[in-house]
Amino acid sequence: MTFLFKYVTILNITCLNKSNFINLALMAEDLHIKADTKEGKYTELFPQIKALIEGEKDQIANMANICSALKYGMNFFWVGFYLVKEHELVLGPFQGTIACTRIKKGKGVCGASWEQNKVLIVEDVDKFPGHIACSSLSKSEIVLPVYNANNEIVAVLDVDSDQLASFNTTDEYWLKKIAELLK
Ligand code: SME
Repeated sequence: MTFLFKYVTILNITCLNKSNFINLALMAEDLHIKADTKEGKYTELFPQIKALIEGEKDQIANMANICSALKYGMNFFWVGFYLVKEHELVLGPFQGTIACTRIKKGKGVCGASWEQNKVLIVEDVDKFPGHIACSSLSKSEIVLPVYNANNEIVAVLDVDSDQLASFNTTDEYWLKKIAELLK
C-alpha cells in the first residue's frame, strides 16, 4: 500500500513536471539572441523581456522570468532579486547556485545598494568591504535598486559574474530599463 501511494505520487509529479517542461521549452525557444556583443544582446533581449512580462500583474512571476531571461540570454553566473521586507532584504526569485537568504540594510553589496539607493558596480568583490560571498565563484557584481510605481525601493536586482570586472555602464543602463518594467 505504501509502495502504491509513493508510486502514484511520483507519477503525479512526473506529469506536472512534464507539462511545465513543455511550457518552459516553448518559452526558451521564444528567446532569440544572435548578437555577440553585450550591447547587442541587451538590445535583442529587452523587447523580449518586455513582451514576456507584459500583462502579468504578479511581480514575483515577472521577477522569476526576468532572472531566467537574463541568466540564459546574457549567460550570467547568477541573477536574482532580494525583496525589501521590513528591515531586511529577503531572497526572492533567482537563477543560479543557492544563495544567502537574508541581508541586513547596509550589509554587503545588496544591503549597501538598498541603503544608499544607488547602483553599485563592483569590479572585484574581494575588494568590496563587507561583501557577502554566497558563492566563492562570484568575482564581480552589479546591484541596482528596484522601484514600485510610487518610486519606493521594493527590491534590489543582483547580477554576479565568475569573471572580474564584468559589469559597466552598459549593464547599468539596460538592467535599469529592465527593472523599470516592474513599476
Ligand atoms: N554578494 C551579495 C550577496 C548576494 S549573492 O551574491 C547572491 C552581497 O554582497 O550583497
